Amino acid sequence: MTTNKTRIAIFCSGSGSNFQAIFHALKTRQLNAKIVLCLSNRSQCGAMEFAHQNGIDTAHLMEKQFSSFDAFSEAMVKCLKEKQIEMIVLAGYMRKVPDAVVTAFTDRIINIHPALLPKFGGKGMYGIYVHTAVLAAGETESGATVHLVNEEYDKGRILMQRRVPVLSDDTPESLAARVLACEHTLYPDALEKLLAEQQS
Ligand code: GAR
Repeated sequence: MTTNKTRIAIFCSGSGSNFQAIFHALKTRQLNAKIVLCLSNRSQCGAMEFAHQNGIDTAHLMEKQFSSFDAFSEAMVKCLKEKQIEMIVLAGYMRKVPDAVVTAFTDRIINIHPALLPKFGGKGMYGIYVHTAVLAAGETESGATVHLVNEEYDKGRILMQRRVPVLSDDTPESLAARVLACEHTLYPDALEKLLAEQQS
């Protein structure tokens, strides 16, 4: 069945390695989707740099540019509508997505979290803090989770998970690197599955 390519906005705050993994997977797997916008709360970061290098439009939006959180939320929705975005992919976006955006894109926002949700999720659980908590809890395995985004941190329906071992000599950094490598295959796989479901 032939359909138009799903228009994706990717939200990032950091190095953007998941963004890059998805960008390459869309091409090599010939998925019926394209990244048309990189939105970030940081004007300069690896993700924004990658977007510039690859001719992808960028938007730098942060709360303090606006007089209120509502104004910020409205600007984000407007930006996404103007670009005719159909799906939002959070890839290391270290901010909570405004409720107005979640409402406007119900069941069309996905996130990757660097642990096996529902464990080690919620407010304050992001980046290296997650891996520090996993080690402090004495877990023998960790992993990554791709899930739908709703108004609550890390609580949307789980789409796919993949596990990695926790080694006895792990540091938060060594565990983070192992989980991140796992994310780079998990996220494209989950996105491919979701697109297939939506486009069938
Ligand atoms: C990834 O490990 C991602 O799971 C995590 O940030 C990293 C971003 O790396 N996201 C969160 O912690 C969100 N709660 P990247 O910029 O190289 O893709």
